[in-house]
Amino acid sequence: MTIARAHTNIALIKYWGKKDPTLIIPYANSLSLTLDQFYTTTEVTFADEAAHQDEFILNGQRLAPKATTRLAAFLELIRQRARVQRYFKVKSENHVPTAAGLASSASGFAALALAASTTAGLQLSSRDLSRLARRGSGSACRSIFGGFVEWHKGYDDQTSYAEPLQADQHVAMDIGMLALIISDQPKQISSRKEMANTVATSPFYDAFIQACEQDMIILKQAITQNDFVTLGQIAESNAMKMHATTMGAQPPFSYFLPETIQAIQAVQRVRREGLDCYYTMDAGPNVKVIGRASELETLQVRLTELLPNTPMVAARPGPGAMLLSDFEFGQE
Ligand code: PMV
Repeated sequence: MTIARAHTNIALIKYWGKKDPTLIIPYANSLSLTLDQFYTTTEVTFADEAAHQDEFILNGQRLAPKATTRLAAFLELIRQRARVQRYFKVKSENHVPTAAGLASSASGFAALALAASTTAGLQLSSRDLSRLARRGSGSACRSIFGGFVEWHKGYDDQTSYAEPLQADQHVAMDIGMLALIISDQPKQISSRKEMANTVATSPFYDAFIQACEQDMIILKQAITQNDFVTLGQIAESNAMKMHATTMGAQPPFSYFLPETIQAIQAVQRVRREGLDCYYTMDAGPNVKVIGRASELETLQVRLTELLPNTPMVAARPGPGAMLLSDFEFGQE
């Protein structure tokens, strides 16, 4: 039996769009920060010899077979690589509101990749683990590592993987995030579906990909120079450019809710008041506010005054995927 844990990551330069949807090879590089707050813990054992399918229990509830197609296909990849026949039994606890744009698929597939590959007897390097997690969900390849992580788009299965930026850069930077939980309901349209539609129909898509290349250069420079303000400005503008592509798609679509706009305006207001903070958003209505770790509490107090009905969770840079002993799991 193996137990693994992985934390979610939030992209500062977004991944949006697959060049190869089967292998999950993206059109552009992306760069994220792994957080210490939202994570998935996953236990994997072999099922009984007689089992004729994988079994999944998520947050104590058995998943119906029709909800597990993608998970089972992922485990099949691991069986093939490890040359094992046995089905798996997977028990997962998600400490992330599932499918609410808080990247539960990233922590989920990263933890599953580590736990299932270890149970199957594969001893993968972090890079190979990242390549494997990518096949479950693109953003999961970044959750194998802690701190700032870049996903190199590559051009095939071998060359598309994530890698941490110089190990201590997130330690040098005074950075944290506030997750504003605007909705914990499953999103209206999955990132997978909306990404594909955007690539196929949005005239803004090519412009977004070009902008990502430029934004990446500036962002990496900002991280090297410990320049928090430039990092925030670039992350904010990159996220809005991503969301602009979906508005230009056919049919037009937006993950924004009215409360999303209110949250964005509150962040802009607090910034005008003199506290540096920037917003980013993923495939859901929630807003993540990038702030200085040392100012996160002040930021939360002020934003709570402006948005009294919005729950907020403060997060700081977090670790990469890890194996846990039974004992540690029992302590939860
Ligand atoms: O979680 P995935 O692999 O479906 O991708 C989602 C991508 C975004 O969260 C919207 C952006 C990103 O880079 O994480």
